Parts: sequence; structure tokens; C-alpha cells
Amino acid sequence: MPEIMPEIALTRAPAHVRHGSNIGQPLTRRDGVLKVTGAARYAADQHPPGVLYAVLAVSSIARGRVAFIDVAAAKAHPGVVAVITPANRPALAQDPDAKTNPFMFRLDLLQSDRVRYANQPIAVVVAETLEAATEGAALLSPRYDSEPARIGLDAAESFVPPGVGVGNPAEVHRGDVEAGLAAASKRIAATYETSPQYHNAMEPHAIVAAWDGDALSVDTPSQGLIMAQGRIAELFGISPDKIHIRSPFLGGGFGSKGFISGPQILGIIAARVVGKPVKLVLRREQMYGPVGHRAPTRQTLRLGADGDGKLTALDHHTRTTSSTFDDFFEPASDASHTLYASPAIATSHEGVRVDTGTPLFMRAPGEATGSIALESAIDEMAQACGMDPLAFRLKNYAEVEPISGKPFSSKALRECNTQGARQFGWERRPLAPRQMRDDDGLLVGWGVGTATFPALMFQAQAKAVLRRDGGGVMEIGAHDMGQGAWTALAQIAADGLGLDIDQVEFRSGTSDLPDGGIAGGSAHTATAGMAIHNAGADAIARLADLAANNDRSPLFGAGNAGVIARDGRLFRRDDESRSESYADILARARLAQIEGHGTSAADPAAQSTYAMHAHGAVFAEVKVDPDLGQIRATRVVGAFAAGRIINPRMARSQLYGGMTWGVSFALHEHAVMDPRSGRLMNPNLGDYHVPVNADVPSLEAILVEEVDPHVNALGIKGVGEIGITGTAGAVANAVWHATGVRVRQFPITLDRLIEPRS
Ligand code: MOS
Repeated sequence: MPEIMPEIALTRAPAHVRHGSNIGQPLTRRDGVLKVTGAARYAADQHPPGVLYAVLAVSSIARGRVAFIDVAAAKAHPGVVAVITPANRPALAQDPDAKTNPFMFRLDLLQSDRVRYANQPIAVVVAETLEAATEGAALLSPRYDSEPARIGLDAAESFVPPGVGVGNPAEVHRGDVEAGLAAASKRIAATYETSPQYHNAMEPHAIVAAWDGDALSVDTPSQGLIMAQGRIAELFGISPDKIHIRSPFLGGGFGSKGFISGPQILGIIAARVVGKPVKLVLRREQMYGPVGHRAPTRQTLRLGADGDGKLTALDHHTRTTSSTFDDFFEPASDASHTLYASPAIATSHEGVRVDTGTPLFMRAPGEATGSIALESAIDEMAQACGMDPLAFRLKNYAEVEPISGKPFSSKALRECNTQGARQFGWERRPLAPRQMRDDDGLLVGWGVGTATFPALMFQAQAKAVLRRDGGGVMEIGAHDMGQGAWTALAQIAADGLGLDIDQVEFRSGTSDLPDGGIAGGSAHTATAGMAIHNAGADAIARLADLAANNDRSPLFGAGNAGVIARDGRLFRRDDESRSESYADILARARLAQIEGHGTSAADPAAQSTYAMHAHGAVFAEVKVDPDLGQIRATRVVGAFAAGRIINPRMARSQLYGGMTWGVSFALHEHAVMDPRSGRLMNPNLGDYHVPVNADVPSLEAILVEEVDPHVNALGIKGVGEIGITGTAGAVANAVWHATGVRVRQFPITLDRLIEPRS
């Protein structure tokens, strides 16, 4: 294979200014220049010699079977090399419908003529050009035996799912909700609906696969390289070390690239069939089915409060959908486990099986969906109590996590509210709705939402090398999905090795490196970062041993005192006038280099003792045209406490992204399905709305200082997903404040705000 990894090195004249150590500095993105000049090559940009093009044919019905496809017509097309259908697809070593753990999702790999959802792959056409493959796929002209599609939250009988999210119980309660409601002096009950949403990463799922005997080379975007490698290995019955995956850049993932998807595997199958490298890139509409989505929800919240405005009961019930053939249930009600203290809390879920692809993790799964309903209901409860919604929240934040009983860092949360409110100017907000207009006569409303996201840790490994030339290497198969991992993780690597970032070669983004875990759950910086930190510490410790045990070193005998690693030198901790360079220590030991290894994982003792979350408070201004109902989120201010911030520039950028998702959740995203056919009616970025710059004209993210020594040794929490959680509710609440109309169906669209005039 030709060399296809671009050079990602800071030694190419960094654009940033540094002051002092590496962690905490607002370095610019190391891969930024590559990305803005087009030099960063994504999977679909790879053109190995002799590559053939694969195009999927996908189902235009949602349920039934493929009765006929015209393989002969497709094969007769000049340029078409192969047509793969269930009739000739080579056998796999593992059933694509096998499921041995909750993280293993069933794939559609042409195992039968059954159609389980619209846009399911039903054949693959491989040709010498993309055009020939596309035309060949069109010539297949499938005929179907179709059955009525079951679509939507009322399509079938519901049931209590075996678990929600990843193995959380579907029903949880503490205290007596009915008694709490009965004792309340004010009560609300409201039902909120959220729409199906699709990840819609800018970069579609794409793969270039090439077999060499039983060795496989793959370029494809992945949020979890080692898991992808493992799944491919099982499906094809080969050893994982025969599979080399390169994923240096992702054009976004949002959860849809956490697990390797069916279409990506079909690209590998196609390459095996034709014995040549094959490229397969999903068309935008083909991403509405086989690569996951966020399922719709209908959430009913019942809240009670006493005369002082303290919650007496909180009941959160969610109805959601999964596919007919696999289990993923959006854990929306779980959003009520964390933030608000109530003597009685109950959360529950029911599931409905529908003819769609299997839903999947998407942008704060459960947290985002549940948060917009919970934060709306909290607002409605405050309104019922005649209280300012921020004051109501401050009165009701938990000091102890209500369900788990673990201590909760509400101090950081309160500080987020204080700083955010000050910056936004919240104290000027009139209590009643529909009181503010701008100079153009637009209705102006202000809303608040609380943000929270668990601080998770997964498992990862890293390898560090210190070289005799004074440089260092850090290796970890981590993932930069646009969030800045190449930069932030390299900062941790440099500090871990006691070197300047320019002296560290940071190798990442391929499956032959130590397992970097998964870039998901907002846990990548903490997880990969701790493995990197520990690998650096291990290398330094080995180096220190060499010096401390050698009587010719100025560090001889430093063993118990310990050393400090800084600027490529080890210093005696108790006497910094005694030091020696890494290069000198290695030279004396006649070593070219020394290696260190690190792992990371959650600390179960800390996790069972403390509630671990990042927090935030989001304040939103919307303007609504009183005649047309047009809504714009004109100003959003979020203040977030997320432990140690490795790179404030990257973190702020992540928070802007999350806040943009929140605006999007509240006002834009809605996948529309035709209930008769089960087909998607807007599977494109023209009709499926996502915000453009004009939709988020003013975003501000305040980083609230927080030291949390319990989450991990570096004190890192996540910033990837928390932004969506407070923002969606804040925007929804601002729409009410602008108009006096409480819309409980999301996204809020202008038709719901146009009042019938007599
Ligand atoms: Mo995410 S939905 O944790 O990639």
C-alpha cells in the first residue's frame, strides 16, 4: 500500500502561541492546516491503484421481501464487474444476526431476502467506475412482496424493554411518587414528543478495503478502532492482527461511527469478491437506515411542588421505538436521575417495535432527549409556582444524587448558573411571557436550561518512548472525529513525558497502535488521556531508575525523594540543582530508547463513592416573528464546569458544537417518515434541517473552573456532549417566554406558534 497517512506534526511552524506547560494551553488544532487546505485525506479520498467502486442498492420498502432483482441487466452493463446479492454473497464466519453482548448490533449483510426497514442494503454492485456502479445498481429494478409498515410510537403494542441505553434498568424508583403528588400544593403533568433524528455527519460512512490473501487493509472512519477490528475479525474468521484500519480523520460521527456499520462491512465483502481494492461511499439518503438514528420519544412528566417551591414528586415516563430485530432503547427518562432533589422519583420506559433500522447512540443519547422534556417540565412547574425558573432550579438542585444517593457536586453547578446568568443579564428578565419586543417588533424571550452529562471512563492503553536524541513518541489508537484529539491528547503526552509538545511524535488513528478505547460518551480525553499520562509516567519511572541506581549520575540515590521530569531533564525533587538530561541518562546506559506502557480505566472505588458529572447552565434568547411564527435563537450563553480543561480553545469549540446541537434539537431536526410506506420523506440535508451559521449567530461558552480529584488523576471530565443537554431546553423555554405558547412537540416549528386570528 502507498503511504497514505499525512504528516501530522507540530514542527511544521505551529500557528499557536504557548505560555508554559502543555496542558491548559489554547493550542490551535494540529491538523487544522491539513483540513483547511484539503491535504487531510479522508477515507473516501483514498485511491489505491486498481480500485473498483461499489454502490449499494437499498430497499424502497420498509417491510417485506425482495421478490426479484434483475441481476442480469446489471451485469450486462459495461463496466459492471460483480453483483452481490443474498444468492451469491460469500459465507461469513459469524452470523450477522448474532448478538453476544449489548454492544453488538445486528447488521444487514445480505443474509436473506427479508426487508426490515427502508434503505436496507439489498445488493452491492461493483464496477470500474462510480458511474457504472451507480447505473448498474439502478438497473436492478427490484420488485418486492411488501407488507404494511409499522412506523411511529403507536405502531404496535408496547412492552417494558429488558434494558435501556446500555443495560440500564427500564424502571427505577425511589420514594412514593403518588403520595408526593397527592401532598403537593402545585402539580403539573405534561407530555412532550421528540422526533426521530439522524446523525448526518458531514462525512458519510465510507470505506476503501483491500485484501492481500487473508490480510485486510481498510481506510474507514471509526470512533472505535479496536472494536471495529474485532468485529471484522469475527465476521471474516481472521485474526485481528491481520486487519489494519486507518482512521486518521473523521468528518464527524455523532455516535454513528462508534461501531462498524453494515455498509462498511459490505465494502469489505465486495473487495473479497472481486479480489481488488474496493471503495464504497454511502450516499446521503443511504445514511437514513443502516447506520443508526435517534428514535422518537413521547415523554410524560408529572411533577409536584410544595408551597415553598420544593419538589415533592418527579415522575418521568418515556415511550420510544426500536427496530423489529434488535434492541436499543433511548434512555430518556434517566435524565431525571441526577439533577433535581425530590423525595419521590420514578422513571420508566416502554418500547415499541417498528420497521426502521436499529436506533443507536446519538449526541448524548437519552441525556439530550430526556433533558429537553425535563427542563421544559421544570419550567412549567416554576411557572405554576409563580417563580423565576432559575430561582426554582437553584432551590431544587440535588446535593446528593437522588437515585444513587451519592454526593453530587452542586457547587460547580451553582457556579455555572451564577456566571452564566451574570453574563447573559438574566436579572432583567420579566417573569411573565410575551413582555419583550425588539426594535423590529419581534417577540423576545429568555429561557434557561440545566446541563449535565456523566463523567465516564472506559479502558485504553498507550505506549511511550523516550529516545536518546531527546525526543519522545506516544502511541495510541485514538480517534479525532473533529473534536481535536490530535491536539489535546498530544498536550497530555508532552506533559506526561516532561517534554515540549514539539519534541513529541504523537502517533494515533490506526488499529496497529495500542487500544485507545472508544471516542464516545464524552470520555475520550479522560480515557485516552489517562492511558497516555500513565504511559509517560512509566517511561519516566524507568528512566529515573536508571539514573538513581548509577553512582555516576547526579541523581544517584534519589530513589525515595523522587524526580520531576521537565524540559527533557529529570530533577531531584528535594534538590532541583541536581538534574540530568534524558539523553545523558540513556547514553550512559547505552540505550537508544526506553519504553513505558500505560492503561486507564474507571476507578471503581471512586465511582461507587461519588456521583460524577460535568455540569452547566445555558441561557438562551429567541426572537419570534409575531405574524409568521419564525423563530431564531439569537443569543446563547452557556457556562460549563467539566473538570480540568486540557485545551480551552478545543473545549470551547466542543461546547459551541453541543450548543448548536441543542438549538438544532429544539428548532430544526426532524426526520419525517411516511406512515403508509415507512419511507423517509426528507433524507437529505436540504429537507432535514440542521443549523447553519445564521441559525446560531451568537454562542458564548464560559469555562467554569472546577477541580474534581475523584474522576481520574488528571481531573478530566468530558465536554463533547454536555452542550446539547442544557441548550435544547433553554431554547424551548425561551420560545414560551417570547410567545406565551408552550409547545411540547420538538422541533418547535413556526406553524405551532401562529395563532388562529378571528
Ligand atoms: Mo457519542 S453518541 O457518545 O459518539
